[in-house]
Amino acid sequence: MMIDPVYPLIVGNWKMHKTIAEAKVYLQRLIPLVFRSKVGVWLAVPFTAIGESVQMTKDTNIQIGAQNMGDLLFGALTGEVSAPMLNEVGASFVILGHSERRRLFNEDNHMINRKVKLALRSDLNIILCIGETLEERKEGKSEEVISVQLKDCLEDVTKEQMKHISLAYEPVWAIGKNNPATIEIVEEIHLLCKNYVSKLLGLPPNEIHVLYGGSVNTSNSKSFLSCAHVSGLLIGGASLDVQSFADIVHLA
Ligand code: PGA
Repeated sequence: MMIDPVYPLIVGNWKMHKTIAEAKVYLQRLIPLVFRSKVGVWLAVPFTAIGESVQMTKDTNIQIGAQNMGDLLFGALTGEVSAPMLNEVGASFVILGHSERRRLFNEDNHMINRKVKLALRSDLNIILCIGETLEERKEGKSEEVISVQLKDCLEDVTKEQMKHISLAYEPVWAIGKNNPATIEIVEEIHLLCKNYVSKLLGLPPNEIHVLYGGSVNTSNSKSFLSCAHVSGLLIGGASLDVQSFADIVHLA
């Protein structure tokens, strides 16, 4: 299933929160709250909760995915989960290149590129995160850093495959801090991403999906959704509360 460029996408990233029991309680509340919604409602839940969450959302408009996966199809990678394993439990997408993975688990662009290619081969849609640190922004390197991330993470990806990828601009300094990026920065970087990938792959810029993520909440989500070049939101903290997440879906 391709990512529809017409409808906004609202993606929740639970990170290391919620047991299976907690996921069930959340989804029981979320399903009736968003069932009329025309936007894409995606939730990246912990590995352990994927199977149960997929079962619960089977005939709904909610898609369940993973927050990461291994960079090999199988092998001696203690603690990792492979793309076929995600297929087996019914995940429809995976978040790749999140800054927490880059920073805390030493993932670089080349490793993320291996994961991107494996996910594409395994029919998983991808949320590919990119974004600069505060130091990089202060040094005026944001554009350069993001261009390299895009070039290296998307190496060997075709324009057809790009229809299964949504980029997510997540400035590292805005994540989990109640310190969102300004509208100007979001519009500038989203335009940069669209133009860069458009040139790289020969796709029209309006077919390239770019989400914004970083300190999004119920009060600021509307302003980001009305920004030029913003195709949706990637939400961490505010997605943990079912009412906040549903409110953001309704605003979209
Ligand atoms: P936040 O996290 O919404 O809590 O800032 C966003 C993310 O890390 O995806």
